[in-house]
Amino acid sequence: MSMTAIILAAGKGTRMKSALPKALHPICGKPMTRHIIDACMKSGASDCVVVVGHGAEQVREGLGADVRYAIQAEQLGTGHACKQALALLDVRDGDVMVLPGDTPLIGAEILARLQQEHQSSGAAATALTTVLDDAGNYGRVIRSEDGSVRAVVEAKDCTPAQKNIGEINTAIYCFKLPLLRKYLEQITPANAQGEYYLTDVIGLMVDAGLKVGAVVSEDSDIVEGINDRRQLSYLAGIIRRRLLDQLMLDGVSVVDPANTYVDVDVSIGRDTILNPGTVVEKGTVIGENCVIGPNTRLVNMKVGNGVTILYSNLVESEVGDGTKIGPFANIRPGCRIGKGVKMGDYVEAKNAIIGDGVSLAHLSYVGDAEVGANSNIGAGSITCNYDGFNKHRTNIGKGVFVGSNVTIVAPITIGDGALVAAGSVLTEDVPADALAVARNRQTVKEDWARKRREEKSKGAG
Ligand code: UD1
Ligand code: MG
Repeated sequence: MSMTAIILAAGKGTRMKSALPKALHPICGKPMTRHIIDACMKSGASDCVVVVGHGAEQVREGLGADVRYAIQAEQLGTGHACKQALALLDVRDGDVMVLPGDTPLIGAEILARLQQEHQSSGAAATALTTVLDDAGNYGRVIRSEDGSVRAVVEAKDCTPAQKNIGEINTAIYCFKLPLLRKYLEQITPANAQGEYYLTDVIGLMVDAGLKVGAVVSEDSDIVEGINDRRQLSYLAGIIRRRLLDQLMLDGVSVVDPANTYVDVDVSIGRDTILNPGTVVEKGTVIGENCVIGPNTRLVNMKVGNGVTILYSNLVESEVGDGTKIGPFANIRPGCRIGKGVKMGDYVEAKNAIIGDGVSLAHLSYVGDAEVGANSNIGAGSITCNYDGFNKHRTNIGKGVFVGSNVTIVAPITIGDGALVAAGSVLTEDVPADALAVARNRQTVKEDWARKRREEKSKGAG
């Protein structure tokens, strides 16, 4: 039996007060609605159609090309939205699962349970429900005396007695596809909100003598939807905590989970320690036995084993085993940093290959450059890669010693084993094993300072 997931995400999300469509607001590095798509796929849905309306093009782009999209130009209600998706389906038979696009806590396990219950019971529809202390604005599940589902009534359409019901509709359901098609044709917008309610299908099915089932979720968090940014940060916090819990169960130490941030797609090896203030984003892979943080951000990084990174920002680069970075380093995109490297305070690198065992200990900038293995770049030495028009490359060989405060004007090559005197401004290549000194000689005037002092004090008297 085919199971198609339909995700309703055409709503405007007015309360987000955002130029970004609600479906795309990120949670742990993944758009809100993408969390739901992934749960559907993982639960065994064979096909997924997302109904989009506001910012449709942008939403498609942001959610990915592996699902199909139906357009709902005008938001006339959840029943109307559902119809737009059905128009796209070529299957005539099978089941569909319908979900809202703004409940990112929903997991694959409960969806699989819903599908299983729906298919084994042979019901026309099966709703996922839960019981709340305060049912607020949710649609209420009305049950017949025999306990079977009778209807779902929206809060605004409830009688006072119905309002007291604690069992609510999560807006997640399974339907037999041909029956959903049939009864969607019969719904009308004759209700308090003047909308085509998908929920009305349930009452119509029961009226026609069909069986409607329900799966009651014990976990009521899963229905929580996001309507404003307070809910966004609240639910993001729950998802983040789940990710951190999984990392901890897998052998990563998270010193302060309330102050550590990881995206959904990061991977971190055993015995690595994440110190407070650590942010691990976008596909970052960290090896074993590393110490990351305090206060460190890694974006799409590949980090080896036994690496220490303190108080630093690293983006789209690689770091080899045993390397120590920080405090206060800024590693910009395109760096390949070798093993056993030391990159200390206020070192910035961009598009640079740093060989094994290199020391770049203090206050350097290395951009568009290659530094060979075991070279030492002294404090304050920098590459001048930009001439105001173009970027140029610097090639520093292996075992080179660059003294402090050297200005290396690219394009330039410094051969293996060369030595560059402190304070030099290099504008020409340095051959291997040579000494380059590119600064004025020091002048010493004996007694000059003392004489000056004496002159000045005479003048004063
Ligand atoms: C819906 C249910 C309610 C349930 C609640 C759970 C209906 C009529 N009511 O109410 O029983 O308790 O969810 O959260 O279904 N959408 C569209 N097109 C539209 C309207 C909505 O795509 O024309 C999408 C929204 O983007 C959203 C989802 O459908 O993702 C739910 O819509 P919403 O307006 O939030 O429905 P609720 O009033 O919350
Ligand atoms: Mg809602």
